[in-house]
Amino acid sequence: MENITNVMEYEAIAKEKLPKMIYDYYASGAEDQWTLRENRNAYSRILFRPRILVDVSKIDTTATVLGFKISMPIMLAPTAMQKMAHPEGELATARAASAAGTIMTLSSWGTCSVEEVASTGPGVRFFQLYVLKDRNVVAQLVNMAEKAGFKAIALTVDTPRLGRREADIKNRFALPSNLTLKNFEGLDLGTVDRTNDSGLASYVADQVDRSLNWKDVKWLQTITKLPILVKGVLTAEDANLAVQVGVAGIIVSNHGARQLDYVPATITALEEVVKAAQGRVPVFMDGGVRRGTDVFKALALGASGVFIGRPYVFALAADGEVGVRKALKMLHDEFELTMALSGCRSIKEITRAHIVTPWDALRVTPRL
Ligand code: GLV
Repeated sequence: MENITNVMEYEAIAKEKLPKMIYDYYASGAEDQWTLRENRNAYSRILFRPRILVDVSKIDTTATVLGFKISMPIMLAPTAMQKMAHPEGELATARAASAAGTIMTLSSWGTCSVEEVASTGPGVRFFQLYVLKDRNVVAQLVNMAEKAGFKAIALTVDTPRLGRREADIKNRFALPSNLTLKNFEGLDLGTVDRTNDSGLASYVADQVDRSLNWKDVKWLQTITKLPILVKGVLTAEDANLAVQVGVAGIIVSNHGARQLDYVPATITALEEVVKAAQGRVPVFMDGGVRRGTDVFKALALGASGVFIGRPYVFALAADGEVGVRKALKMLHDEFELTMALSGCRSIKEITRAHIVTPWDALRVTPRL
C-alpha cells in the first residue's frame, strides 16, 4: 500500500478485496456507461495555459464553502452503504475528512447514522437527502441531521427512479444482512433486499417520492434552517430555477454517471451552470475527479469546489481510514502542485484564462 502514488490505484485493490456484488455496485454506471467513461475522458480534452515566473514559494489551497474555511476545495460526496466497503464504513470516512480539514457529506443511505458520524469528533458535515414518500420521515431525518450538528442539506434531485445499472440487476444486488440503513432504524421503511432485480432499484421504487418538484424545495426550506444545496443540476434552465427558489448552492452532478446515461460529463456541463448562476450562489461539481489537475480545471471553469466519490470509497475498501486520508492527501498535493506549475498562489488566482477547452474555438484570445 506504501507504493500507491495516485488515487486511481486503490480501485484494483478494492476489486480484489471486495465481493463482486459490492465492487460492482460502487464501480458501475448506468446502461452503456457512456457517461461513466465521459466523466473521465472530458478532463483530458481540457488543457492548461500556465503562467510562468510567478513567485509560487507560498501556495494557499484553502477554500471557503458556505462560510466554512476548509483546507482545500476538495470535499467528500455522499456515497451509500460504506460498511460494505470496510467494517468502519462512514466512521472511518468522517475521521479522515476531519483530519484532512475538509467536508464530508453523509448519504441518507449510510450504514452509520448521523449521530454515530457526529460522535467521531468535530468536523463540518453535510447531509445528503433523498425525499421519501413519507414526509414525516423526511422531516424527522432533517431534524436528526440538524441536531447532530450537520451544516447543510444536499438534496439529490436526479433520482425519482434509480438508474438502470445492469451489474446490480445481474448480481441481484442487496445490502448484506448484517448491515442496515442506520438513519432509518426503527422506522418501518423496508429493506434493500434481494429481489429478481437490483434490490436498490426496488427500494427506491417503494420509498422515494417520484413527485418531487420545485415546490418541495420550498417546503424543505420551511422545515429546516440549514442551507440547501441542490445536487444533480446539469442545465442553465435548472440553475436559474434553483436560484429563483432560493437554494444556497448548486452541485453540478450526474450522480457518478449512475442515473441517466448520455448526459454530458459534469466538467462539460459545469460552465453553462456557472454562467446561469451569475455568481448569485456558489456552484460545486462532482464526477470523475481523480487528479489535482481535474480540481484545478473545475475551479477554472467557475466551480467553488469539487466533491469526490468513488476514489475515497475504493481507498476505504483498500485501507480503511488510512486509505481515505492518503487519498485526500494525494489529491491535495497534486492540486497544490498544479497551482504552482500554473502560476496560481491562491484559489482566487485560478482563472478561466488558465485553461483552454474544446468549446473555446470562438472565444476571443487574450490580446498581446
Ligand atoms: C446511491 O445513491 C446510488 O447511486 O447507488
